[in-house]
Amino acid sequence: MNRILVVYYSGSGHTEFVARQIASRCHADLERIQDRQPRRGVVGYLRSSLEALLGLHPAIEQGRHRPGDYDLVIVGTPVWFWGVASPVRTWVRRHHAALTHVALFCTCGGSGQAKALDDLERLCGHPALTRLALTERVVPQCQRDPALRRFLLELKRVPSVSVSLPPLQDQAPA
Ligand SMILES: Cc1cc2nc3c(=O)[nH]c(=O)nc-3n(C[C@H](O)[C@H](O)[C@H](O)COP(=O)(O)O)c2cc1C
Repeated sequence: MNRILVVYYSGSGHTEFVARQIASRCHADLERIQDRQPRRGVVGYLRSSLEALLGLHPAIEQGRHRPGDYDLVIVGTPVWFWGVASPVRTWVRRHHAALTHVALFCTCGGSGQAKALDDLERLCGHPALTRLALTERVVPQCQRDPALRRFLLELKRVPSVSVSLPPLQDQAPA
């Protein structure tokens, strides 16, 4: 079994894209948090907004992986109203006891990323090994992003975890 689980929620694909990049670099298992009820269109947006602002816990599907089986769990969320996406809040509450070693990441339009990661860290109940925030603008080229490389370098410090770094020549110029 792999020793890292990457778990994420994604409405429009940005967080999923980053989750897949991280999982492939860390040889990790991947778990997508799934809503029980569809979250589409204007109604879905309004529901998401309300849940984010009120700190609600919407119903989510059971999921396939048990976070307690892993050395490290990497949790990813889109930023919703400067905070955690509500389905991620539900997942973290459900698995709280197993989340002793975590790393966190988020994607966003451009604001609230630090607060969202602070909130997520507090929900997990343990300091994150490392954190990553990417704006949706850089997501398609995140393999070249120095922030992702730093994040992966920190993950390499976890014993028994193997991480393949992107080649240096792939890095964006400083
Ligand atoms: C309900 C809702 C609230 C959002 N609030 C913020 C926000 O406070 N700050 C921000 O920068 N982006 C915000 N966004 C944009 C998302 O964080 C951004 O598009 C993110 O990359 C979406 O990830 P996804 O494609 O994985 O769903 C919001 C999006 C939604 C749907």
